[in-house]
Amino acid sequence: MEKEEGDSCRSHVLVFPFPVQGHINPMLQFSKRLASKGLKVTLATTIFISNSIQAETGSVRVESISDGFDEGGLRKAGSIDAYLERFEAIGSQTLAELIEKQRISDHPVKCLVYDSVIPWALDRAKRLGLVGASFFTQSCAVDVIYYYAHHGLLSTPLQGPTISLPGLPLLGIHDLPSFVYAVGSYPSIFSHVLKQYSNIEKADWLLFNTFDKLEDELWPGKTIGPTVPSMYLYKRVEGDNDYGLDLFNPNADACMKWLNTKESGSVVYVSFGSIATLGEEQMEELAWGLKGSNNYFLWVVRASEENKLPRELAEETSEKGLIVTWCPQLEVLAHQAVGCFMTHCGWNSTLEALSLGVPMVAMPQWTDQTTNAKFVVDIWKAGVRVKVDEKGIVRRGEIELCIREVMEEEKGKDIRRNACRWKELAKEAVDEGGSSDKNIEEFVAGLV
Ligand code: UDX
Repeated sequence: MEKEEGDSCRSHVLVFPFPVQGHINPMLQFSKRLASKGLKVTLATTIFISNSIQAETGSVRVESISDGFDEGGLRKAGSIDAYLERFEAIGSQTLAELIEKQRISDHPVKCLVYDSVIPWALDRAKRLGLVGASFFTQSCAVDVIYYYAHHGLLSTPLQGPTISLPGLPLLGIHDLPSFVYAVGSYPSIFSHVLKQYSNIEKADWLLFNTFDKLEDELWPGKTIGPTVPSMYLYKRVEGDNDYGLDLFNPNADACMKWLNTKESGSVVYVSFGSIATLGEEQMEELAWGLKGSNNYFLWVVRASEENKLPRELAEETSEKGLIVTWCPQLEVLAHQAVGCFMTHCGWNSTLEALSLGVPMVAMPQWTDQTTNAKFVVDIWKAGVRVKVDEKGIVRRGEIELCIREVMEEEKGKDIRRNACRWKELAKEAVDEGGSSDKNIEEFVAGLV
């Protein structure tokens, strides 16, 4: 049941995501969901991020703390190791100060919902006597694989070609997260994601941004997703709006105006999220592949990637396509003109596409995306996956083929039908009395 705001006895929850777009988005939306259930919610983020934010946050208040890189955030740190070390040293101090500051206010913090990849936040919360809830921003399947890796249950080097893990379908080696099969590729990030289990037994709650019908009983935690705002799923609810925390400037008007001129299901939306980078050769193949598919396309090429797009190619493709540096993705996916999503399969993009019934062309790049792509194609049957050549490049012909398959061909019909089914199931999970809604109610009830 949605509750009225304004009750001075409301329990206060502090939500603390890792400071990147793909972690802030789901945790902010979850915060809004908690606020709509009557809790007072504050989102803590770094000074750099809070200075970069492009929108209001509605029912959720934002407080900033220092991570030691107030002037440039993660990118200014020089290396991920340098960032993580300083983030922990400074951040654990400034987070504690923020909690202490609230202690003397009318609304002391009762619970910290922390991003599972910041385990030191849980240590702080426990020392300060708070309830600690770990929020996992990636799929349950990926969390389970990392759990096995943390406990040394995945022997390396991996013995292929397939690997069987309890509770999971048979996976090819390259369906595992890239850090697991390409051992040594990003050792710091890999050890960082494994650390999320270092003190997990101290957490009072384990919350997963997924829903039961999508990932059945994979983990003894609570599913609370998808965190897609309800207005995109079925109705507007109190305290739940479309405000996001974009760290990039979305070309909203240009995108929506352009989409409004296109027929239903005629546009391919293309995006690789907020972090992944493509090589120049891949970028060129993609541009020609999009053009060759002969569909309209809306392509997000972040400003930092634009220099890889040869000018003549950008002009060449412009007649059928719109290229923007960032867009309001949920609004785009919900638009009737969008017929398919060519995606890197970041977990948020994957969940958003499933929740809005948009079929996918999966083009995973690294980290959890390879596993998400496997599930999209073989388990949820809501998309196709591109094949890479021996140089690791997806060629233009392959791109054309996959887009046509989803947008036009007979096989695409089933994929489109399945995507619509996931949309219904996602709605069902977050609707009143649905599995995720009940879990959120239980979490809220435990705090009042
Ligand atoms: C990162 C990892 O890469 C991803 O694999 C992991 O699961 C979460 O953290 P990111 O690469 O940014 O995230 O991808 P994704 O998880 O899809 O998150 C991107 C978010 O940015 C989505 O919520 C999407 O809606 C939003 N977005 C993306 C926009 O609002 N506009 C855009 O133009 C592109």
